[in-house]
Amino acid sequence: MGQGGCQGKAIPGAFHRNPCDKPFPSRIVAPIRAVVTVFGVRFEMMKFLVLNGPNLNMLGLREPSIYGHATYADLEARCHAAAGLLGVSVEVRQSNHEGVLIDWIQAARGTVSGIVLNPGAYTHTSIAIRDAISASEVPTIELHLSNVFAREPFRHHSTISPVALGVMCGFGIDGYQWALTALHAKIVHA
Ligand code: DQA
Repeated sequence: MGQGGCQGKAIPGAFHRNPCDKPFPSRIVAPIRAVVTVFGVRFEMMKFLVLNGPNLNMLGLREPSIYGHATYADLEARCHAAAGLLGVSVEVRQSNHEGVLIDWIQAARGTVSGIVLNPGAYTHTSIAIRDAISASEVPTIELHLSNVFAREPFRHHSTISPVALGVMCGFGIDGYQWALTALHAKIVHA
């Protein structure tokens, strides 16, 4: 494990305050680094996870007037391009199953520096995903392609927002790049 810029500030068991006044356990704020080997040379990079929930695999086909014409492959490519610019590693995953998303969030505990999560329709119903984020203690940005607040009233409520670091919505796949950038900045400057 390499020594990240924030690790020196971490006090085990203590909580840091960020500008949003949202406390994080300092152990989790410390950037967790993945080892990447390129042509035999080892690099240590901060590792992020992008998780997408139900129906996001249908991107490009599904209601393009709401979600745009970009495909799921475009979304993945955008995340990898953003990670390249930030000098971090990213894994992009999608599942239509709540339990699978929960397993991934739990497994992120202590192994991933931050999560960008588009929970799809589970945003509006899933207490279990919210609890998984709390339990994992991994800084998580909630993201939506569409501006959920300009849509049906049932999309205005999120079970996830209260445990999220922040919320990004309404910017299509561009939002993923900005959410990764915001997550990176938040962790580096914590
Ligand atoms: C969504 C918004 C949700 O309300 C919806 O159920 C989705 C996608 C979005 O990205 O805009 O599946 O999360």
